Amino acid sequence: MKKTFYVTTPIYYVNAKPHLGSLYSTLIADVIARWQMLKGEKTFFLTGTDEHGQKVAQAAHQAGKSPQEFVDSIIPAFKSVWERYDIAYNIFMRTTLASHKQGAQQLVAQLLKQGDVYKSLYEGWYCVSCETFVTNKDITDTDTVLCTTCGRPTTHVAEETYFFKLSAYQEKLLQWYKDNPHFITPKERSHEIINFVESGLKDISISRTTVPWGVPFPDDSVHTIYVWVEALCNYITAIGYGDSAKQQEFNTIWPADVHVVGKDIIRFHAVYWPALLMAAGLALPKRFLVHGWITVDKQKMSKSLGNVIDPITLCDEYGVDPVRYFLLKHIPITQDGNFSYADLEQCITSELANNLGNLLNRMVMLAEKNNSMSIDAPQQFSPEALKVHAACIDMMHTYDRHMQDYYFHLALNEILHFLHIVNAYFHANEPWKLAKTNMPAFKEVLSVVAHSLRAVAFYIMPVMPEKMRELLQGLGITYTQDTDIFETLRLDNWNQPFTLVTLLPLFTKPDTLMNDEKTVSSIAQQTTQEPVHESTIEFSDWAKVVLRIGTITSAEPVDNSDKLLRMQVDFGTFGLRQILAGIKPFCAIEDIVGTQTVFVYNLKPRKMAGLESQGMLLAGKDEKGAPTIIRPISTVPNGTQLQ
Ligand code: MSP
Repeated sequence: MKKTFYVTTPIYYVNAKPHLGSLYSTLIADVIARWQMLKGEKTFFLTGTDEHGQKVAQAAHQAGKSPQEFVDSIIPAFKSVWERYDIAYNIFMRTTLASHKQGAQQLVAQLLKQGDVYKSLYEGWYCVSCETFVTNKDITDTDTVLCTTCGRPTTHVAEETYFFKLSAYQEKLLQWYKDNPHFITPKERSHEIINFVESGLKDISISRTTVPWGVPFPDDSVHTIYVWVEALCNYITAIGYGDSAKQQEFNTIWPADVHVVGKDIIRFHAVYWPALLMAAGLALPKRFLVHGWITVDKQKMSKSLGNVIDPITLCDEYGVDPVRYFLLKHIPITQDGNFSYADLEQCITSELANNLGNLLNRMVMLAEKNNSMSIDAPQQFSPEALKVHAACIDMMHTYDRHMQDYYFHLALNEILHFLHIVNAYFHANEPWKLAKTNMPAFKEVLSVVAHSLRAVAFYIMPVMPEKMRELLQGLGITYTQDTDIFETLRLDNWNQPFTLVTLLPLFTKPDTLMNDEKTVSSIAQQTTQEPVHESTIEFSDWAKVVLRIGTITSAEPVDNSDKLLRMQVDFGTFGLRQILAGIKPFCAIEDIVGTQTVFVYNLKPRKMAGLESQGMLLAGKDEKGAPTIIRPISTVPNGTQLQ
């Protein structure tokens, strides 16, 4: 039987309602699941809640409820956010379910029986917020020991616990990482984990005697299973582990194809979880996709700072699909990303309303005005139309490649780039004039735009399911789950007839728009009247130079050149560019790929070694005259303009 594609989110602590960060992890998994379904894969998507442990018990106590009452009262908040955001999960797993408890106990019992688990004394510190044993050799018990992850004070723990022989799996894990280089994505996180394991693994404590709100340890109910070990088991208990009647189902779904996790919990997932699975004789997941953190106005979201973003308020104001699109397009999966209302509004206005929604509207309005709501494809397309067709095929290939790597922001950038081409084609051909002079040429333009928008709608469907369904309606296409879009597009010679339908605008521009360009030009108008010195320039001169931060997503040597590197640079909403620079002798490719640096963005493109460079990298020279790349001291959104 064909294996089901299995994608999971972390299970969320239920000490509070979901926030933008929880939505982000879940959205990534949802888009992966939808993309696989679109490709015809049988898919299983798991999410859920992590309901045991000290943190949740404390929150229940503060709320004056029993832990069970408390967790039951929080679950609807999670379910309603996921429902609102169209999260198409198959199972919402709760760790308080009897089937989960039984499965987790079965796994621990097996490890106990085969000698991978033993009883001893644990003495050290525990962070309740992270539910983590803090291992720091250099601290004494008289200090206030702060958690190395969250910075909060830890509590001292001295109790008898069961230990898992993690140390026995060090070499096996290292061998696994070596044999499976894509096990952890992105590779920076993979290096981190390998370094951690190489530095030596100690056995870990996997039970507590002082935390009653948990799953009883097998055959020793004085202990409960350490909440992290029990929580990780949800990935297998949700699909039938521990239930002999579900063994077959389990076998078609496990192992997970992708576990989506935030960077803060990668150690539990990519070290402890594989070791536990190895010990249990179960297959290991194929991949961990590790995402960064969303900050708000450059700060971590926290209740005390009052900057926690509520996903429901956000979609009430901006709509579900625009928020889904923004989070995936503007936060590169490999990095932390900042959320700001100004960026969200800018994105909705320029990328969604102007580039996408308006194109559909303008085309349909023109068709309506000229009684041409039914368009047939021409027998033969003109050379300009064929260029758009070629760009469309290019977009589809590149999009697919980026989606395979889970680089959603780059995939969506490809769409944006393609939409710029279609918009430029539409304007250059002036169909409003053609309607009066050359009806076949007019219809050809409409046909090109309709075919292009159809491809765009199919491809962004996993990210904006509702809006893209609407767009297809505007093109007279009814999308059903059974539509094999890849087959349709693969065989497509742009010969589809369309029956256009008038719709309300797909996207509404937010009222309170903060327009970057406006700010720049108004600054530029405030030209200083001070006397000009020989070595100074007018402000308006400086304003002509656009410097932007971009992430180098790939770099390779250029044939027949000792110095040049050819880089692909991601400028976020401003697109992906090819830029060449003479830095090859001075830096290692792996040191620059994935890093941010400054580029002159509006320099006229020029040819270097036969290749076009669409910008210039800025560097200073060190004492030896070697170029040194300039980097921002903290990550900023790609495309950020220096001013
Ligand atoms: N319960 C554990 C996971 C157990 S999985 C077997 C846990 N829960 S959590 O609720 O604290 O975090 C769940 C996920 O939300 C993590 O992937 C975490 O990275 C993500 N986020 C929480 N805040 C976040 C941001 N501000 N930004 C992005 N994601 C972050 O850890």
